Amino acid sequence: MSPTTRILALPVLWKSTRSILILVLLARALCGADGQPPPPPPHIVFIFADDLGWHDVGYHDSEIKTPHLDSLSAAGVRLENYYVQPLCTPSRNQLMTGRYQIHTGMQHQIIWPCQPYCVPLDEKLLPQLMKQAGYDTHMVGKWHLGMYKKDCLPTRRGFDTYFGYLTGSEDYYSHVRCVHTASECNRCALDLRDGEEVATGYEGQYSTELFTKRVVNIISKQDPSKPAFLYVALQAVHAPLQVPKRYVAPYAFIHDSSRRQYAGMVSAMDEAVGNITAALRQAGLWNNTVLVFSTDNGGQTLSGGSNWPLRGRKVSLWEGGVRGVAFVASPLLRRPGTVSRDLVHVSDWLPTLVGLARGTHNGTKPLDGFDMWKTISYGKASPRVELLHNIDPIFVDMGACPGRDEGSSLTQRVSDDQRWSALGFNVSIHAAIRFNNWKLLTGYPGCDVWFPRPGGPNTTRTGSLKSVMLFDVDRDPEERSEVSDHFPSVVEFLLSRLNHYQKSARPIIFPPDDPRCDPGPTGAWGPWA
Ligand SMILES: *[C@@H]1O[C@H](CO)[C@@H](O)[C@H](O)[C@H]1NC(C)=O
Ligand SMILES: *[C@@H]1O[C@H](CO)[C@@H](O)[C@H](O)[C@H]1NC(C)=O
Ligand SMILES: *[C@@H]1O[C@H](CO)[C@@H](O)[C@H](O)[C@H]1NC(C)=O
Ligand SMILES: *[C@@H]1O[C@H](CO)[C@@H](O)[C@H](O)[C@H]1NC(C)=O
Ligand SMILES: *[C@@H]1O[C@H](CO)[C@@H](O)[C@H](O)[C@H]1NC(C)=O
Repeated sequence: MSPTTRILALPVLWKSTRSILILVLLARALCGADGQPPPPPPHIVFIFADDLGWHDVGYHDSEIKTPHLDSLSAAGVRLENYYVQPLCTPSRNQLMTGRYQIHTGMQHQIIWPCQPYCVPLDEKLLPQLMKQAGYDTHMVGKWHLGMYKKDCLPTRRGFDTYFGYLTGSEDYYSHVRCVHTASECNRCALDLRDGEEVATGYEGQYSTELFTKRVVNIISKQDPSKPAFLYVALQAVHAPLQVPKRYVAPYAFIHDSSRRQYAGMVSAMDEAVGNITAALRQAGLWNNTVLVFSTDNGGQTLSGGSNWPLRGRKVSLWEGGVRGVAFVASPLLRRPGTVSRDLVHVSDWLPTLVGLARGTHNGTKPLDGFDMWKTISYGKASPRVELLHNIDPIFVDMGACPGRDEGSSLTQRVSDDQRWSALGFNVSIHAAIRFNNWKLLTGYPGCDVWFPRPGGPNTTRTGSLKSVMLFDVDRDPEERSEVSDHFPSVVEFLLSRLNHYQKSARPIIFPPDDPRCDPGPTGAWGPWA
């Protein structure tokens, strides 16, 4: 007689055993295995740097010094196989929705200040889920997810408080953004808000310090018994190249003036992260905090950034555009001081952070991200084997690409290869997909230069381009050796995956500028509809 049949034969005993079992399980669920109440869910601090390149942190052998990022990440988990989107709005969009760009209709470029759209309002965003899980939610810094009407604002999309700017690229001191794109609107105006109100009186305060001060203030006022979600979207280190002189002083040895200014900006940002973690410690929150630091895309070589030795830069689908600097720092990590080589993507934060918050995804649309906590904290294999970088049929490059025909950056520079057309995917389309070690690119991926190491010899080089390119990025992260001819079955498989994804894509939302965006001579950028 097996133990089960014996229990079935004794229904009375089973019934009481069952009630005891249920009580024990209930007690365990409520109190944890050792009878202690479960620890409260952690405070979560997500710091997004803007345009920080692969080669721009000290621990990637940079000439730029980032002592705080180095030591925090050394005691945490460095994510060295981590991907973001190649541009601001797309990475922020995926962070907030946990979904690929093709699934929100935002696969093309960024939201320009006068475009009347935002992340679709039927998408439930990360802060809403955190709020639902009982968190206080605060945002400081760059939104860039649309603001043409009030319903699009951060305060209407899950954040209890907001202090920051709604567009991008403004002045670090005056907080003014100039727009010269639309013929109807040629205007410089303030872009800074506290909640939904225009925030005046901050002129002259350097945004990296201004935003950090606000974050430190929020932390000092946080009730430690209530979990907090802080989204810190720094202006640093995006252009324009502006920074107080004292941060640049240690970089007199850098001859290139853009790189020198940029290095100072990175140092100020590093200090900001130091100040934020110090404030968390001082407030007694640190021992129950998970801090994520991530860049939003690759560095912009036109503005001092470097992704050396990776190919390409911001905007492109080369590794220089999408392989991002990131780490997690927290006393709650089970394997502190490790380097993770598991595939992790910016869309994974939503399920990961909501999981840590013990929240649910109720109300989201189907997620493309995975819960990575077991991978990051315990070193379990990543549930992610595939990653769609993007599919953008109307891609145009932005900015001059050295060594390529200057002035015609919008032209398609790759010859059509009809060999693969039978597989259904139009290989003239700008797209890239990753599967395990393999990366397939189609169409023109964007500026493909191997930019030289800053301060090193000028070895700016370009490679030859084809409309279908395959790389083994595990062995060849610099994308030097194109191997599609050697692995036609891998190419076929990845093209079929691109075809599959393209079928699930929403039509691109990219409306023309609305002249009503003009805030007038005394106004500030903000909702107009
Ligand atoms: C960090 O804190 C110090 C001391 O309060 C302050 O002087 C400095 O400006 C802060 N740095 C940043 C980048 O906020
Ligand atoms: C964090 O520190 C506080 C104060 O020292 C303590 O009460 C709390 O139990 C600690 N939390 C954790 C998760 O260790
Ligand atoms: C999901 O959300 C809906 C509406 O907000 C609510 O009615 C439902 O009870 C929720 N379900 C769960 C499992 O939380
Ligand atoms: C293939 O894609 C390119 C780039 O998006 C486009 O110009 C072309 O019209 C497409 N061809 C077909 C047959 O759809
Ligand atoms: C380095 O090479 C690039 C591409 O040939 C060129 O545009 C640039 O001016 C060179 N820079 C210097 C400092 O020689």
